[in-house]
Amino acid sequence: MTTIPSVLVTGASTGIGAAYAERFARRGHDLVLVARDMARMEALAARLRQQNGVAIDIIQADLTKTDELATVEARLSDDVRIGILVNNAGTAIGGSFIEQSTDDVARLVALNTTALLRLASAIAPRLAKAGEGAIVNIGSVVGLAPEFGMTVYGATKAFVLFLSQGLSLELGPKGIYVQAVLPATTRTEIWDHVGADINTLSNVMEVDDLVDAALVGFDRREPVTIPPLPDAGQWDALQAARQAMLPSYRNELPAERYRKVA
Ligand SMILES: NC(=O)c1ccc[n+]([C@@H]2O[C@H](COP(=O)([O-])OP(=O)(O)OC[C@H]3O[C@@H](n4cnc5c(N)ncnc54)[C@H](OP(=O)(O)O)[C@@H]3O)[C@@H](O)[C@H]2O)c1
Repeated sequence: MTTIPSVLVTGASTGIGAAYAERFARRGHDLVLVARDMARMEALAARLRQQNGVAIDIIQADLTKTDELATVEARLSDDVRIGILVNNAGTAIGGSFIEQSTDDVARLVALNTTALLRLASAIAPRLAKAGEGAIVNIGSVVGLAPEFGMTVYGATKAFVLFLSQGLSLELGPKGIYVQAVLPATTRTEIWDHVGADINTLSNVMEVDDLVDAALVGFDRREPVTIPPLPDAGQWDALQAARQAMLPSYRNELPAERYRKVA
């Protein structure tokens, strides 16, 4: 790509996605904004066009609806100007597993995992052919912590982390940078959807701080960026512990502790 690539941001109408849109517009990237709330995206686009002189398109889409998701997939696979995908749209729901309805958890999985996966799949072959580009997937520290009690949400975010790490290994050699960003509690409307009052929560990161930190990781080409984690060595130690087990997965006999005693 000789020109600055366009950036498609999902969930761009508010919160983390809107902050990403603002930062990339400031950097001179044209944008494609995707979410359901047209009025909010139009207001954001008007402001960013005026402030930064960039071109901004808007796609109104509910990413849990197959036909609307397909429109975004087509744009990603066909529009050669788009070189960066920010897979940010996501939500959370309140309650425990037995309180959450089957339809609600299925919708959560559809947005947080299926849509994110389909959009990455739509753009990756074109970026691989071009030999450059980036896919940013917004996960969560909850995906590392079943103890936090948001089981289905955390499971979707564990998927996002694994997918990102795997795609980084697969697509990195083809020139595509894949980043997983793992925020912790950040001041956005997502907490309204969970039924929590953000003002009663402690240790809340401001959305601008979160996105600025994530972009430091982006510029460094980090595969995994965890803005709230002070000691990067802890993440490295976790990865080293995980990788140390890999050779043992090749054993043909069950481990000693699983063998029947005669
Ligand atoms: N805030 C946190 O504490 C936190 C922590 C860790 C990870 N995250 C992750 O960060 C990402 C952004 O969340 P946020 O905190 O910025 O939440 P948010 O303020 O609720 O914004 C979510 C965005 O996703 C869009 N969206 C929701 N449902 C959609 C659908 N069905 N189709 C299309 N777009 C949809 C929303 O726009 P419309 O309503 O206009 O469609 C909105 O733009 C999510 O993946 C979330 O899991 C957030």
